[in-house]
Amino acid sequence: MIIAPSILSMDFSKTNESMDQINATPVEWIHFDVMDGHFVPNITFGQDILRGISQLTDSLMDVHLMIDDPIKYTQSFIDNGAQQVTVHIECFESLDQLREFVRSVKDQGVMVGLTSKPKTPIDWILELIDEVDTILVMSVEPGFGGQSFMYEQLDEVRTIDAHRKEVGSKVLIQIDGGINDQTAALALEAGVDVLVAGSFIFKGNIKENVDKLWNQSL
Ligand code: DX5
Ligand code: ZN
Repeated sequence: MIIAPSILSMDFSKTNESMDQINATPVEWIHFDVMDGHFVPNITFGQDILRGISQLTDSLMDVHLMIDDPIKYTQSFIDNGAQQVTVHIECFESLDQLREFVRSVKDQGVMVGLTSKPKTPIDWILELIDEVDTILVMSVEPGFGGQSFMYEQLDEVRTIDAHRKEVGSKVLIQIDGGINDQTAALALEAGVDVLVAGSFIFKGNIKENVDKLWNQSL
């Protein structure tokens, strides 16, 4: 199991201190939520902040692009420290365009994740299961931290898990939104490998909260 704290919920007046606390836990990925105010109704941070944060940790920088035009901006995120780029399939015109994008990122040795808003059909994602590293299941409508977990999204996890077993794929299943110690247990049981958690980790004692998630895998 991999834990990926979403720094969206971090107290940015205590960035160094918070990153030091994260680095002292078993966390392996840092989840970096980029929002453009168009694809989702909220604005967060961009490439410069990514570069700064990536210098404060050895964890993998996992960049979740919630932006209208991932094709235009992905390269600049890679140039500034993204080690995995996760894009929304809604932002692509065709499966061919998406496949071409995935290959162009993989060719650079950068990991690729695919995701979709909860109501979007996942056919394109399943179609490309052999080409990507991670499939991210959104368990909230993307846009804001601190929302409640959508339990029905566990069905999407189960569908992907069944499909990967059927085709013998090693793709990782990641879940994002409303994860706490209780929903984490359900997600892991359904087949999730990577837990994103924002408010649960950062609202309170970081080490204790990471430990609570970590204990779910034991
Ligand atoms: C939502 C983001 C999430 C968010 C999760 O659009 O993609 O990564 O930060 O936050 P919590 O864990 O608070 O639901
Ligand atoms: Zn996210």
